[in-house]
Amino acid sequence: MAATAAEPAMQTSHHQEGVSIPPLFTSNPPIRDALQTESSLLQDETIEECLPFLAAQEEGHEKHNAHGVPHLYRDRHVKFLHKQLGLLPAMFKAADPSRPWIFYWCLAGMSLLGEDVAPYRTRLIETVRPMQNEAGGFAGGFGQTSHLATTYATVLSLALVGGEDAYDVIDRRGMWKWLCSLKQPDGGFQMAVGGEEDVRGAYCAAVLISLLNIPLELSPDSPARASGHTSLFSGLAEWVRRCQTYEGGVSAKPGVEAHGAYAFCALGCLSILDSPHRSIPKYLDVPRLVSWLSARQYAPEGGFSGRTNKLVDGCYSHWVGGCWPLIEAALEGPAAPAADCTPMQADDSLFSRNGLIRYILSCGQDLSKRGGLRDKPSKYSDAYHTCYVLSGLSSAQHRWTFVSARADAAMLDGDVWTVSPHVKGEQIFDEEDRVCTTHPVFVIPQHKAESCQKYFASKHGF
Ligand code: FPP
Ligand code: ZN
Repeated sequence: MAATAAEPAMQTSHHQEGVSIPPLFTSNPPIRDALQTESSLLQDETIEECLPFLAAQEEGHEKHNAHGVPHLYRDRHVKFLHKQLGLLPAMFKAADPSRPWIFYWCLAGMSLLGEDVAPYRTRLIETVRPMQNEAGGFAGGFGQTSHLATTYATVLSLALVGGEDAYDVIDRRGMWKWLCSLKQPDGGFQMAVGGEEDVRGAYCAAVLISLLNIPLELSPDSPARASGHTSLFSGLAEWVRRCQTYEGGVSAKPGVEAHGAYAFCALGCLSILDSPHRSIPKYLDVPRLVSWLSARQYAPEGGFSGRTNKLVDGCYSHWVGGCWPLIEAALEGPAAPAADCTPMQADDSLFSRNGLIRYILSCGQDLSKRGGLRDKPSKYSDAYHTCYVLSGLSSAQHRWTFVSARADAAMLDGDVWTVSPHVKGEQIFDEEDRVCTTHPVFVIPQHKAESCQKYFASKHGF
């Protein structure tokens, strides 16, 4: 397709009061496709919307640091998340089945901001206990059907608040039976009995099995027995492989459009089935996936989109940004953590960390009293975006290293990961604006995932 030079760049560089912002983030892209479509017009509008924020020209820009990047409004975001966990007005009753998600997003977001979430333990336990069904799993509300997404959100929330009282809410035998009933003859998982089968199911099931030490043997009545499967994990990686598309990305299920959220689910699932350097290259074409993931990062915005020809959105800071540590582990295999390096060493990352950090801090924060993080400047902040934008910020600010691999695939808690601040290249955020870390597979703090695994590792049968 013909490409032409666009209108002259808006600015060649941006200097004000000693602040210098690279022109990549303050100008229109130099080469653009000549074909105008509904998508290209929306893209132009999005760039127009983001440029004043990226160029530190929006109202309230006095709060920027020497790199023209706003500080992290930590206190406002913490307050926003506490408020989201308050009582909802009656008009929000449609959000009722998302209550476990609201807990997860708020508690995970607060943890990233350095808050202690244990004070929510009792309330969480009392809220989710009645949402667990006799037949296993958690629903989104009392009297509703168990669903893998709400079960995942509930179990992660319980792991976040931690403690035996929280862990003991979970009926592991019921969970095992229910997971067996979701496992399909083609190797994948349905999200609910009779519901859709997609990569979220593969990831959520793998996370639950790993965190709760669920026995892998399939119950005699599992639908997957029909095609000879005997384990909850058999045929799962092969099913995930079928979701890689011609573009190189990963789709919800075989044959549909690739989307960043499913790339994360696929990589997370494979990293549980075996160590990432073995399972990821075995089941996915990594160079084509890297190429597709790289194409998700846009300039001048710096943030990621979820799919081809769609718009930047803060939540993909996690869904796409969170793929990189898993890709790095797949490519590098077990490696010694980076020895002391100096900031002057070239930043050899597979994505522009500083681009993502600029998008998040400049465009992703609601700097008003409301607080919270968002998709883009024209959208309101919400708990979902607050959680995943902060998680993406954490991936950009830190370097995870996969240091040692389990002896064999079945040893689900045998991989060792370490994390340290990413120090290569120029640091464009102030140290006070660094968020905490979150495990690259489980998306809760590493010690919380490990405590949960340790507790359930001591329970073999039911
Ligand atoms: C498209 O939305 C979004 C999707 C097709 C995927 C949503 C899936 C997740 C967020 C993953 C859930 C993961 C777990 C673990 C349950 P859109 O069309 O509004 O957005 P777009 O224009 O950015 O593609
Ligand atoms: Zn979003």
